[in-house]
Amino acid sequence: MLSFALWCQSNPIHRINIRYLSNPDQQIVKVFGPASLSNLGPGFDTLGLCLKGIGDVVEASFSSKQGISITSDAAIPLTASKNTAGRAAHLVMTKAADKRGIHLHIKKGIPIGSGIGGSAASASAGAWAVNLLLGAPFNKSELAYEVLEAERLASGGVLHGDNALPSLLGGLILTSPVSPLDYRRVNLTRTMHLVVVLPKRSILTADARTILPSAVPRIEAIHNASDLVFMLHALMVGDWEVTAPYMMRDRIVEPARASLVPCYNAVREAALDAGAYAVALTGSGPAMFAIAKDEKSTSEICAAMVEAAGEGANGIVTQADMHGARLCT
Ligand code: HSE
Repeated sequence: MLSFALWCQSNPIHRINIRYLSNPDQQIVKVFGPASLSNLGPGFDTLGLCLKGIGDVVEASFSSKQGISITSDAAIPLTASKNTAGRAAHLVMTKAADKRGIHLHIKKGIPIGSGIGGSAASASAGAWAVNLLLGAPFNKSELAYEVLEAERLASGGVLHGDNALPSLLGGLILTSPVSPLDYRRVNLTRTMHLVVVLPKRSILTADARTILPSAVPRIEAIHNASDLVFMLHALMVGDWEVTAPYMMRDRIVEPARASLVPCYNAVREAALDAGAYAVALTGSGPAMFAIAKDEKSTSEICAAMVEAAGEGANGIVTQADMHGARLCT
């Protein structure tokens, strides 16, 4: 079981002053892009929550080579136009009208295709690292478009911000797939104790979107809309117990995707038996998360979920993160 492994120290400020080396060409800026939960039950493509302690790290430096070059130990595309961090870096350089070459080194802390926003974490870390390398010409909200556009690479061409924006900005994000730059960031007022289980399999978001129903009966749409508004209210007032039932009865997306996750029912049952308030898939899965009543109960819930998820599964005890992408210190 992994527990609360913090890769980097948190830095809550969005415009960060960093001490630059006298020769900026030698500067290496290292940024942590956090993982995130998305959908949260009925909020398909519209709700996302930043997670503490798990994420990707992107190191950015200037390079004598033109364009964006990428290295990584992980099995990810190293061509900038096919890599979310590379694409984000390119877009930030274009926005800054800076033609210098950039090198990115990507350390994947988030397993690929796990459902906790790995591609978005790389995109947010890539954008923020390059921005800091340039001397922070932009604040985070000014980089929302670049991060969203980079994340499009992973989602089969759809612009949805429910992983990318939480990873960049932190907190709970309300976003619109119709108009993705319309978003609201909500600070949670109470600690949310979370458990995330990562079964040992990988599901690509683009694939998991193709199995979704293209039309839904009106009654299901109304049911989900009503659950979403009540759940959001409970999240905003910090009542996790009231949040739970709304989070657990999505009728549109989760039932279709559960079929891709053989341990879905077992993990759900194990989490609830161990005392979790709520449990659901995150994003396209296979990861599932649970909200625990308190910190004390998290290790029992985590152990139960990991066991139910089968061999090779990992569990993470974590909390919501309010800061988003940040400089590693
Ligand atoms: N909202 C997206 C989906 C998130 O569920 O397809 C993907 O991680």
